[in-house]
Amino acid sequence: PAEKDTHKATIKELLVKHNAVLIAHYYTDPEIQALAEETGGFVGDSLEMAKFGARHDAETLIIAGVKFMGETAKILSPEKRILMPTLEATCSLDLGCPIDEFSKFCDQHPDREVVVYANTSAAVKARADWVVTSSIAVDVLEYLAEQDKKIIWGPDKHLGRYIQQKTGADMLLWQGACIVHDEFKTKALKQTMALHPDAAVLVHPESPQEVVDLADFVGSTSQLIKAANDLPHKKMIVATDKGIFYKMQQKAPTKELIIAPTAGEGATCRSCAHCPWMKMNALHVLSEVFEGNDKEIFVDETLASKALIPLEKMVNFAK
Ligand code: 13P
Ligand code: SF4
Repeated sequence: PAEKDTHKATIKELLVKHNAVLIAHYYTDPEIQALAEETGGFVGDSLEMAKFGARHDAETLIIAGVKFMGETAKILSPEKRILMPTLEATCSLDLGCPIDEFSKFCDQHPDREVVVYANTSAAVKARADWVVTSSIAVDVLEYLAEQDKKIIWGPDKHLGRYIQQKTGADMLLWQGACIVHDEFKTKALKQTMALHPDAAVLVHPESPQEVVDLADFVGSTSQLIKAANDLPHKKMIVATDKGIFYKMQQKAPTKELIIAPTAGEGATCRSCAHCPWMKMNALHVLSEVFEGNDKEIFVDETLASKALIPLEKMVNFAK
């Protein structure tokens, strides 16, 4: 604990010294989220982080999250310095959607609008007509379906299928998945539900269909946090990254929160409901964010100017 206090004090000093603000995702460790709050920074979902960063007047944004969030911040605010505790923090959706293959897929279907999830590289965003986060995905696809647009969706197959079912949109799906949400299992979840029959089941739509089918409420991180407070149930079984419990408990202090199980009997989980890349944003790593020159995000200018078009549509759609 003494070491942690030293790291926290160092980070606080550095933020002031460098006119920097800390912006953290709900999935980062509770101490990182608390530090963002204590220092006048921000904790939110990927869309809220993008908006907060773009509007803030600090010279430097420290993005505690995964790489696509840093790239989005840079594209929206090219004049700012964007630092991340580590540039190694990626995302299985981004990794599973290489630009060359995705671009080929798009070229094969020139009659379709390309809609991609924010969890992608700047290059994939530059190839897209729309970028969405899970908090606005259903609304944007509803809007496009009303105009009879045919869609290519990437990379998350589970989120794509969920939106398709909700909106009836004509969508061709890229077959990516989030390794964290993909590990929630129905058999074990049913057992947890049987132990807590009075609990509501909250599920992020990156989870497999059978898990979504068991949910009382399906939504993005910010929507799940709101639902934990709004639903009348006293207990919540939550199928998303357990980092969300920090904010969820703060917003719903009287509720009992239970993490959904990630593996069936005898099996082991790879992530155990905590994203291995979000986890890299540890306090001691953050305390060295101004050291060396390997923590700054740069985006190729041609890609950035192309990716800015769908990213601005995303930010403006959600105003
Ligand atoms: P949000 O857009 O809800 O922040 O989710 C991002 C993410 O990585 C989900 O796994
Ligand atoms: Fe990517 Fe899943 Fe981690 Fe979110 S939780 S950053 S989707 S790997």
